[in-house]
Amino acid sequence: MQGGAVIYMGGKIAVSMMCADITKLVSALETFERCEIEYLHIDVMDGVFVPNLQLGTDYIRQLRRCSRIPLDIHLMITRPEDKLDWFDIREGESVSVHYESSCHVQRALSRIRQLGAKAVLALNPATPISVLEDCLPDLDAVLIMTVNPGFAGQVLVPQALGKIARLKEWISSLIGRDIEIAVDGNVSFENAKKMREMGADIFVAGSSSVFMRDMALEDAITRLRESIE
Ligand code: DX5
Ligand code: ZN
Repeated sequence: MQGGAVIYMGGKIAVSMMCADITKLVSALETFERCEIEYLHIDVMDGVFVPNLQLGTDYIRQLRRCSRIPLDIHLMITRPEDKLDWFDIREGESVSVHYESSCHVQRALSRIRQLGAKAVLALNPATPISVLEDCLPDLDAVLIMTVNPGFAGQVLVPQALGKIARLKEWISSLIGRDIEIAVDGNVSFENAKKMREMGADIFVAGSSSVFMRDMALEDAITRLRESIE
């Protein structure tokens, strides 16, 4: 190809910032920009919806000052619709709320869009994709949890792979518009390849791939890109 830019058509990477080494944060962010990482994935946990506490509003504010990569904020909190305004959500960002976290998810999804961000509905491993039916008009993407949310370093729930394939099939046959599929949890190099074959578009990369001990960030990113191209 002469003079033309090479267009990358593979899956997108959302690096899971809760897995990042805090002592090397600035250089990691430089590496992510250089490697054209698509999103910084921020796990927000409230100790109620999931049995853990993680990244909060001040962390997010600081991160926006250190990087131009769009944020992908994953809210594992109860009643997210009451808390969206705490996050100063920006256009071009992506925000996930859990179907299981509120009886007012439609309100949360439409508010996210009002704020200019992509509205994403996350489903725990035991939640069937059929619950999406009446949420589809309000959705830009679906986040399939491939582990039970709350902790890094868990093992893939095996039936989640088939769920990705069923969702992909459903989206292509029924919906007639593009709804992206994101996957989160034990996205290892091997699992990512299978998830890509099943139809996943966005890959949350945590301790199973990009943040593996004994592997340089850049090498891990290259290897993950190869798995999802
Ligand atoms: C799970 C978190 C993930 C986690 C994934 O609740 O949402 O973002 O960091 O990383 P690993 O690869 O450790 O499963
Ligand atoms: Zn997450």
